[in-house]
Amino acid sequence: MTVAIIGGTGLSQLPGFVLQEELAIESPFGALSHPIKKGVYAGKSVMFLPRHGHPHKLPPHKINYRANIDALRLAGATEVLAINAVGGIHAEMGPAQIAVPDQVIDYTYGREHTFYDGSGDQLEHIDFTYPYSELVRTRMLSAAGNAGVACLAGGVYAATQGPRLETAAEVTRIARDGGDMVGMTGMPEAALAREAGLEYACLALSVNWCAGMTEDLITMEDIERALTDGMTKIEAVLSAYLAHV
Ligand code: HPA
Repeated sequence: MTVAIIGGTGLSQLPGFVLQEELAIESPFGALSHPIKKGVYAGKSVMFLPRHGHPHKLPPHKINYRANIDALRLAGATEVLAINAVGGIHAEMGPAQIAVPDQVIDYTYGREHTFYDGSGDQLEHIDFTYPYSELVRTRMLSAAGNAGVACLAGGVYAATQGPRLETAAEVTRIARDGGDMVGMTGMPEAALAREAGLEYACLALSVNWCAGMTEDLITMEDIERALTDGMTKIEAVLSAYLAHV
């Protein structure tokens, strides 16, 4: 297994990651967010790709998810750990809480969301009943247990378009649909990873209560604070994960 980590908001650099080389991989699908970094983290050889670029900050709808996933596949990644910041709806998804969701609802639009776009002669309708790799999910949850970090085991990740946050009514609707957390980058990444044959799962970090869930408006200061608190948990889970692969 070759592990790749896709870092989201707050994780454009992985503290403790020792860079060996930046891979000069090009994808026919266009420019990656950043060249894939190959190096050592927690004593293991891993690849790291900052989803929003570094230092340039690509908004969620401008990320070339196809190029990123295609390049990770070409680089030989087999197992992808996707880190995503989310807002929380589920009662246990308050700021700085982490989760390994097991389902997805996709509300995004206008994104290049498939490798089977009619340009080639191939068309496959991938099975997406269970959108995440159970292998990677199980390993993430064991890693959280080993690291002593409380982690919600499951939940529905609702992917919205962004970059704006939702209205209170949109959050009410997503909650009614069954959403437990809301993020802007989980799709089409997960579906593309399935099309590419990668074992892929999401490790989500709540950085705010979703719009309308509390009396307060959502501020960037509150989000930054939760990101800082939560990222130490994410790093602990990633280290524990790599200790067992
Ligand atoms: N909504 C959507 N995406 C997010 C949020 C949110 O509240 N917080 C972090 N990413």
